[in-house]
Amino acid sequence: TVNTNGQLSIGGVEVKDLASQFDTPLFVYDENHLRERCREAVAAFGADSVIYATKAFLCKAMAKLAYEEGVLLDVATGGEFHVALSAGVPGNRCVMHGNNKSVDELRMAITNNVRHIVVDSFDELNRLEALHAEGLPAPRVQLRITPGVHVNTHDYVSTGQDDSKFGFNLNNGDAHRAIEQARASSAVDLVGIHCHIGSNVLAIENFEDASKVMVDLFASSGLQELTLGGGLGVAYTEKDNAPTMQQWADVLKRAASSLPPTARVYVEPGRSIVAAAGITVYEVGTVKKIDGIRTYVAVDGGMSDNMRPALYESEYEVFDPERTTADRTEHARIVGKHCESGDILVFDAPVPPNIAVGDLLVTPVTGAYGYSMANNYNKVTRPAVVFVADGAARLVVRRETLDDLTRLDV
Ligand code: LLP
Repeated sequence: TVNTNGQLSIGGVEVKDLASQFDTPLFVYDENHLRERCREAVAAFGADSVIYATKAFLCKAMAKLAYEEGVLLDVATGGEFHVALSAGVPGNRCVMHGNNKSVDELRMAITNNVRHIVVDSFDELNRLEALHAEGLPAPRVQLRITPGVHVNTHDYVSTGQDDSKFGFNLNNGDAHRAIEQARASSAVDLVGIHCHIGSNVLAIENFEDASKVMVDLFASSGLQELTLGGGLGVAYTEKDNAPTMQQWADVLKRAASSLPPTARVYVEPGRSIVAAAGITVYEVGTVKKIDGIRTYVAVDGGMSDNMRPALYESEYEVFDPERTTADRTEHARIVGKHCESGDILVFDAPVPPNIAVGDLLVTPVTGAYGYSMANNYNKVTRPAVVFVADGAARLVVRRETLDDLTRLDV
């Protein structure tokens, strides 16, 4: 919100106050927004049908928040599962994912009694056989199916096509073979099938296409559970147009309307729960004007806290939180402090005139896959994460210190 002083504020706290209290770069989440997105998803899809994909953003506070809101948690590694368990989320509120789960991760999932494991490959089925032979109980499993549909998103986050490392291909018969094998095995309790066609999907028809294929397979399988993935896109910039949670739900429900009422349908949203709830706050440290070429504005973070522009050429907007009403009449490339030219946060940003050293800048819609993909490139310390609600801010992840950077050295 822009408050009556013309200042950008989030959760009732001015961004400039957050910057002076917690320093920059800083991830700030509007806690009520996170909760509302969870509630909207539960209202659209029903109780115990929404599985939050924690890879989008995970820390103990986020795991606890999702759990409190009645949302299940998708964990794709033993690490994500560990964070969820450490936050007090019971194992049976978690679903285990991953295209290359280790024996230890599978053992961890089974001994902590996950709700189900989404099995991705024949090798994984073999590992589950071995664990059962050791005496572990047969877990409830869904099989990840690759439906062979094309999605309009970046190639790196497209997963539904035949040429994919994920899942059992439907078109070459692997999916049917896997269903038969799992059904015949006493090492697993096959309960359902799963698909996830890709991420940041903005075209609702892509979900329609995939759901039709999956519903047909599901209906012929006689199984009880169907997961139709995550992938709902969000608007990052003014020119993006994303379907709402309800529009997504309507499309999936229509596709599943022919199924018997006993069929249980799950979804796994990640980005759409957390992206728009989060902003990143930076401070400008260097302004370089190259006449006739461009202006570079360098901030105190960069590709270590938001890899998405470098990885996917993702676009963002940027605002000066203290000059919210100023016309953005100039253009600048917003870059970070890392030692490479690809360290870009916003390729060509409209900005207010005369951005100066010491100004704050904010990139909105950075709540998904920002902190979760943050890294220590150039031995930059990772930012702190703050939740704000009703005019109060609380630190949920502290800023890394220089000592943290050497704590693994032996
Ligand atoms: N379910 C599965 C099995 C997934 O692999 C993912 C995301 C999701 C659900 C959640 O998808 P979402 O609703 O967040 O689109 N780092 C990339 C995104 C990678 C997504 C990986 N899987 C990015 O920054 O765009």
